[in-house]
Amino acid sequence: MNVSGKTRVCALIGDPVEHSLSPAIQNAAFQHLNLDYIYVAFNVRANQLENAILGVRGLGIHGLNVTMPHKISIINYLDELDETAKRIGSVNTILNKNGRLIGYTTDGIGALNSLKHAESNPSDKKVVVLGAGGASRSICFTLAEYVGELIILNRTLEKAVNLANNIREVLGKKVNVRASSLIDENLKKELKDADILINATSVGMKPNDAFTPVKRDFLHQNLTVFDIVYNPLETRLLREARLVGAKTVDGLSMLIHQGAASFEIWTGVKAPIEVMREAALREIERVRENNDKKFREV
Ligand code: ATR
Repeated sequence: MNVSGKTRVCALIGDPVEHSLSPAIQNAAFQHLNLDYIYVAFNVRANQLENAILGVRGLGIHGLNVTMPHKISIINYLDELDETAKRIGSVNTILNKNGRLIGYTTDGIGALNSLKHAESNPSDKKVVVLGAGGASRSICFTLAEYVGELIILNRTLEKAVNLANNIREVLGKKVNVRASSLIDENLKKELKDADILINATSVGMKPNDAFTPVKRDFLHQNLTVFDIVYNPLETRLLREARLVGAKTVDGLSMLIHQGAASFEIWTGVKAPIEVMREAALREIERVRENNDKKFREV
C-alpha cells in the first residue's frame, strides 16, 4: 500500500469498532483496484460525535461508515440525506462531496443484493423477516418495495406492528406488509408457503450460538434462509436450513454487500465482491489464530 499526500481517507466511526472487519474488507478492495484510498477505524464515543464530524470536515476525510451507536444521531450533523436514508431515518455511509456531507444507508441494499447474488431474488416472493430493530427496519423498508408479501415477526409485537404501519405510511398502500408475534404457531403457519426467511434478530449470535429463532421442523427445502448474524458464520439456523436442503445466505454476505455499496458511493467504481469476501474470511481466520495463540500462552 503506497500512502501519499494525495491518498483519500475513508473511516469507520462507532463504539466499539475494535473487532470490525470493514478495514480489512475495504482496504483489500482499494488495493485490488489500485485506488489511492485508505480505510481506518475510529472509536468515537457518543459524546464526541459532533467533534468527530467537525474533524471529518476539517481534515477533509472523504467517506465514512457509521455504526452503532451513531446511525440515527449522526443525521443531526449532515448537510443532506439521500431519499432512502431519509425514509429509514438511519445512516451508515457518508460521502464528503466538496465539503458537503451526504448521508446514505446501504444496509437494506446490502440485504437485497445478498439475496440476488445467491440467486434468490425476492421480487414478488413471500418473505418472512424476524425482528423489528434497527437492522430489520432497513431491510424491511428496502424489501417492501420488491416483494410480493412481507411478514414481520417480532418477540415484542408492538414494535413489529409499528414498523409495518410505518412502512405502509411511507411507501403507500401498494405494499403488502403484515406483523405478528414471533411465536411457534405463527412461524409454522407463515413459513409453510414462504420463499425467503430472514433472521434480523440477534438470536444465534456468539456466545449464544446454541440457540435458533426457528425450530428445524418449520424449515423446508423450498426456502432460502438468510441470517444476518455472522458470528458464527454458520449459525445454528443456517446449519439446520442446510440440513433440510434449503438454500442459505450468511451474515458475511450482508456485510460485504453493504460495504460494497458504500465503496461504490465513495469511489464510483464497481466493488470487487469476491476479493472483499476473501479478505473478510482471512481476517476472521487471523483473529482466530491470534486468539488461539493467546490462550496457549496463558
Ligand atoms: P439491531 O440494530 O441489530 O437490529 P436492535 O435494534 O436491538 O438491534 O434489535 C434486536 C432485535 O432482536 C429485536 O427485534 C429484538 O426483539 P425485541 O424487539 O422483542 O427486543 C430481537 N431479539 C433480541 N433478542 C431476542 C430473543 N432472545 N428472542 C427473540 N428476539 C430477540
